[in-house]
This record gives sequence, structure tokens and C-alpha cells, in this order.
Amino acid sequence: MSRLRLAACAALLGLACLPGPARAWWKPNATDGLGFNYQLGTDFDPSSNFIDGVQVYFIDGESATKAMVDAIHAKGYRAVCYFSAGSYETYRPDASSFPASVLGNVLDGWPNEKWLDIRQISVLQPIMKKRMQDWCQAKGFDAVDPDNMDGYTNDSGFPLEAKDQLAYNRMIASVAHGLGLGAGLKNDLDQLNELTPDFDFFVNEQCFQYNECDKYAPSQKANKPVWNVEYKSGAFSRGCRCQSYFGVTSIKKTLKLKPPLTKCSARIKDKRCRYDPSATLMGRRG
Ligand SMILES: *[C@@H]1O[C@H](CO)[C@@H](O)[C@H](O)[C@H]1NC(C)=O
Ligand SMILES: *[C@@H]1O[C@H](CO)[C@@H](O)[C@H](O)[C@H]1NC(C)=O
Repeated sequence: MSRLRLAACAALLGLACLPGPARAWWKPNATDGLGFNYQLGTDFDPSSNFIDGVQVYFIDGESATKAMVDAIHAKGYRAVCYFSAGSYETYRPDASSFPASVLGNVLDGWPNEKWLDIRQISVLQPIMKKRMQDWCQAKGFDAVDPDNMDGYTNDSGFPLEAKDQLAYNRMIASVAHGLGLGAGLKNDLDQLNELTPDFDFFVNEQCFQYNECDKYAPSQKANKPVWNVEYKSGAFSRGCRCQSYFGVTSIKKTLKLKPPLTKCSARIKDKRCRYDPSATLMGRRG
């Protein structure tokens, strides 16, 4: 539809002739300082898995039920739908919808997962849209947490380039928004400058351990939350005191992401937190 026709259409008929009303979605901000839990290893149990001070619950979208999401909403909390956007998992019910041509190398450490050829957007978009519809939107989730959004930095088996990843990640965010779902960017630290405007929040693993939380400066500037999970006690306690300096909210979990968590409530904004070999709070790099 041409711009002119669109304008005429809107003027004559209100917005009714547009493809669909623009949908609103959840846009959390960092000022609210919402606590989160990242619980993928076991089903969410509303009778035992709520945690004081935790308002945002990340759970596996495919295995979640609407009742779980309803229980989270009944408390006034938010539910985020995890799914893998950048890998194929042998055990998902839609596994047969991935043609062999999009399947690449096995993920290091995850033998049941293969990287996807994210350049094939026309093949993957409908599969991912259906996941977001059936696993997330239909159950009432507030947002999606698409995983494996940085395959271009990995040995995927395909010659993926940064631009391919940008296009794919933007497609995922735009499909989510079209369904009325917020979208979080998982890791993909080297594309935060480009992708911060496209995503509503950020999910990070181990930025304290790898001394890379400072890469979240663009999200901090945009006042968008960064929810960080650490797996090692040393990195967690070293980083926790400095989380406010980097604008992240941190928890420590086991790698299996089962229910228990250790929260970090430190609110220090000391400049000594910056990554610097002479920093007294963060210690040595690497
Ligand atoms: C943050 O979001 C809350 C709603 O959750 C809103 O009330 C508040 O005004 C927002 N703050 C900023 C600084 O955007
Ligand atoms: C993919 O690459 C990133 C960045 O180099 C790395 O942190 C991550 O562990 C890799 N993922 C896998 C599954 O190998």
C-alpha cells in the first residue's frame, strides 16, 4: 500500500483499514528494579516457587501451562517465555518442522541442540512465530526470552555474519511485538549498540565472570533492565557489589537453573567497579 493510499485510508475510515491495530506490549524499565528468577530446569510450581522480592519469572514456554502463567499474574507479577530461537532441540514437539537444510553443528555442551542457519529467515520465521503464538501468547505470557541469539560468534557450521544475526534478531523482536509480547535479547554482547532500540530488556549469562557487564552501557542509558545470571560463587560475590554501577540485576543459580537462587541486592555505584586492572573492588581482569 502506498503512503498516499494509507493516509487517505486512515483519513476516511479511521485506522480500521490498516492490517491490524498496533499492539501494546510490556516494556519494563530499569528504574523499577524488578527482581527476577530464571527457572528452566524444572516446571514452575506456584505452590512453592514464588520468591520474596522476585516479580519477573522466566520459565520454559513449551512446557509451561496457562495455569502457571495465570498464577504468576494473580500475584501481580510478570511471566517471560523462554524458547530457543537460534537452535534446534531434538526434544521439542515441533522438531520435525525444521528442514535438514537449516541444521548446523551441535552446540558445545548441549548434545541435543544444533545451531540454525539464521540466514534462512523465510524458513525460520513461521516456525518461530508459531512457537511464540502457541507457547507464549496463547498462555498469556508478557514477553519472550529467545535463546541462542549469537550463533554468528559460534562454530555453527554456517558462514554467519554479524549482519545476518542483526536481521534475524530484529525479526524475532518484531514478531514478538506484533503478538503483543515484549522481547528480551539474550547475550549477544557485541551487538548491543545496534540492538538496544529493538529489545525491551536484556538477559545475560556470566558477564561478571567474563568482565563484560560494561558492554551493557547502551541498555543502561536506555533505562532498560539487564537481568544477569551467574553460575560461579566467586564471580557472583565479586560482581554483585558492583551490579548497580553496570546497571544489571544479578542472581546466582546452578547451571541447571533449578528453583533456588541467590539474590544480589547491592546498590553500589562506586567508579572503582569499572573494569580496570587497578580496581580494588572488581579485582584483576580475566
Ligand atoms: C517505569 O515503569 C513504571 C511502570 O512499571 C512506571 O510507573 C514508571 O513511570 C517508569 N519509570 C520510568 C523512569 O520510565
Ligand atoms: C557461543 O559463543 C559465545 C561467544 O563467544 C560463547 O560465550 C558461548 O559459550 C558459545 N555458545 C556455545 C553453545 O558454544
